[in-house]
Amino acid sequence: MRALLLDFSERRPRLGDLPEPAGGEVRLRILECGTCGTDRDLAAFAFGAPPAGESQLILGHEAVAEVAASSNPALPPGTLVVPAVRRACPGPCASCATGRRDLCLTGAYRERGILGLHGYCAEWAVDRAEDLFPVPRALAGVAVLVEPMSVVEKACDTAVRLHPGLPARLLVLGAGAVGILAAWAGLQRGWQVTVVSREPEDGVRARLLRAAGVTYRTTLPAAGAADLIIEACGAAELAAASLACLRPLGVLVALGARNTTVPMPFLDLIVGNQTIAGSVNAGPEHFRQAIATLTALEPAWLRSMIERRPLHRALESLAGPVPAPGGDAIKVVHTLH
Ligand code: BGC
Repeated sequence: MRALLLDFSERRPRLGDLPEPAGGEVRLRILECGTCGTDRDLAAFAFGAPPAGESQLILGHEAVAEVAASSNPALPPGTLVVPAVRRACPGPCASCATGRRDLCLTGAYRERGILGLHGYCAEWAVDRAEDLFPVPRALAGVAVLVEPMSVVEKACDTAVRLHPGLPARLLVLGAGAVGILAAWAGLQRGWQVTVVSREPEDGVRARLLRAAGVTYRTTLPAAGAADLIIEACGAAELAAASLACLRPLGVLVALGARNTTVPMPFLDLIVGNQTIAGSVNAGPEHFRQAIATLTALEPAWLRSMIERRPLHRALESLAGPVPAPGGDAIKVVHTLH
């Protein structure tokens, strides 16, 4: 079968042919697979690992698939599914044992298409039923957004849980796919949403966000403008600067900022009862919530985020700066069948 591979011995991504996977409770016919910043970091060998004893990793963790064969009556052939990314650590730890692998305590978890397990940018895959979330057929065209939206749902959940008051104003840093999905999720929760990013004020992303009622800016808003901040821009400097925008009780959830040295206004955080939290991956509830949120959102907003490409263009997608500042392709998706 055709697959997008990371070759760890030659240290390069490539398209290749692999034997189809065998066994497994559920056999999946992969329909499409999204590309994100993690995939581009993987293709640059910033992190990631192939399965034990192998030198290649099938990339792809944002997948939509159809059940082709199944020994589980709850997932009959033809069911549309989105797989979870993370698999439990050996042991497993207290979090993994209760299904919250996203909160793994040992760090020995594995992730499909990222760390130690093959991903889904291939024609076929196998899985266990418990790792698959059924998706309504009506969502087929945008279901590739379920995985990134699950990350956003966890971030929103974390922010609300940590905020001791009634948050009403969300500031999102970054207008990549995750930033835009965070804006949509915020609107869905009834929050007033502002997005700050580098893309021009008259660019595609700014127009898309504004049409939905989101305020779009290229500079941070005034002090005290936000109850919640979701960082989806990768820049710790901007995240640190944005703390000045938080009202008392405010919460910043970091999703993509890199390790770096930035000034940290500890006393302001203390006096304002404010919180900074990190969040990664997502639990089963977040996948289900992502499916519900995407079902409730305006389909045209979601469809306009997606650019579909044939698998043979995958290397170009990985090399290119997607999302490019000001570029049109917000979420590049490769079709497998
Ligand atoms: C994925 C997460 C994953 C993380 C770190 C992200 O792109 O959406 O599910 O846990 O990368 O590997």
